[in-house]
Amino acid sequence: MKVVFLAPSYPPEMQQYTRGLAEVGAEVYGVGDTPVGSLPASLKRHLANYLQVPRLMDEDDVVSRVAAWLNGRPVDKVLSNWEVMVLTAAKLRERLGVPGMSYDTVKGFRDKQLMKDRVRAAGIRTPKSMRVRTVADARSAAEKIGYPLVLKPISGAGSADTYRVDDAKELERVLAKMEHVTEASCEEFITGEEFTFDTICVGGKPVYMNVAQYLPPPLIARSEQWVSPVIITVRDLEQPKIQKGIALGKQVLSALKMGDGFTHMEWFFTPKGEAVFGEIGCRPGGAHLVDQMNYTGDVDLFREWARAVCHGRFEAPLTRKYNAAIIFKRAHGRGRITGVKGLQSFMRAHGEHVVEEKLLPVGAQRRNWKQTLLSDGHILLRHPDWQTTYDMAFEAARNITMYAE
Ligand SMILES: Nc1ncnc2c1ncn2[C@@H]1O[C@H](COP(=O)(O)OP(=O)(O)O)[C@@H](O)[C@H]1O
Ligand SMILES: [Mg+2]
Repeated sequence: MKVVFLAPSYPPEMQQYTRGLAEVGAEVYGVGDTPVGSLPASLKRHLANYLQVPRLMDEDDVVSRVAAWLNGRPVDKVLSNWEVMVLTAAKLRERLGVPGMSYDTVKGFRDKQLMKDRVRAAGIRTPKSMRVRTVADARSAAEKIGYPLVLKPISGAGSADTYRVDDAKELERVLAKMEHVTEASCEEFITGEEFTFDTICVGGKPVYMNVAQYLPPPLIARSEQWVSPVIITVRDLEQPKIQKGIALGKQVLSALKMGDGFTHMEWFFTPKGEAVFGEIGCRPGGAHLVDQMNYTGDVDLFREWARAVCHGRFEAPLTRKYNAAIIFKRAHGRGRITGVKGLQSFMRAHGEHVVEEKLLPVGAQRRNWKQTLLSDGHILLRHPDWQTTYDMAFEAARNITMYAE
């Protein structure tokens, strides 16, 4: 089995998928913009071949360079697990005549308005939304949709330039901040809890499923620096409210004609008990979500994903043993980390449940919390009981404080 895998070295977890592919017997043809000499040895040993391209984000250039490189040698799969490369992979499949999701199908996972149109057309509960390009468009959409509403870029990520708007006055303030956004979505604001629905699919059917809760919703976590964002995988997927989200998620997968591979969906659960679609990608969630899923069931989804896409099988146990919580910390102050308070006493009390403590060390440069959910590091812990997991996670969120200057 010959597999072309786009971007095998960056983001860092792509190295794990490359390993997974090699472990299930694939010959991996990596394509990336990192010079071959800079690839880590731990990655190189899993690559059968590697092509360095000068502009990884230039779809057409990558497609023609890879086609020339392969020079008629047949390959079985063209894959990518990075959001910005999934369309390039689809284009390359079409160019090489390799089976897999078409360019048009993958677009349904990339263009948020097209995505919602397709999901809505299948009769699935989706926020009312309109594509807007001008201030006048936005004002008229706001009148039709009503308040509160959300304004966000059509091709957004990580809640960038995303705002909740409560009235017409606020709309004007937000529009002024959004001048640089050329195309936005004006949406009905959905009040409720926010969850993920993650799968590995074979032929559009999940062979693995996960749900995690965002605490608080990403829009709030991204707007308030003092928040320590918490994400917890839900061990018990049988709860009725979670089942509603799973049912919604499966409908979305068929509406968008999912094929093989990872999906990462977001959905809301409203106080009235309704599950509402948020958005979906045909790639894994970022920010260590796959690590959290691995800790939930003591599995290796990097390898099982590879097995599913290469051989149509999933061989890890599906038993969920834990709720796995990740707590992202943001230091007070700017510059370099100067200290961490409360970590030792937290570890004395709960250390046996902590599986990763990766807070930035003293002396490290702070990360930009607006640009990366990873913030200034994280703690990952797990416990079979939801409430215990939740309480420990929020104790870490409240009582561990990082400082920088
Ligand atoms: N219609 C909506 N109702 C309520 N909250 C929303 C809505 N759309 C987006 N949000 C909030 O904004 C966040 C980011 O929006 P999303 O559509 O997921 O874009 P992205 O994650 O690509 O930036 C969501 O996680 C959610 O918290
Ligand atoms: Mg999102």
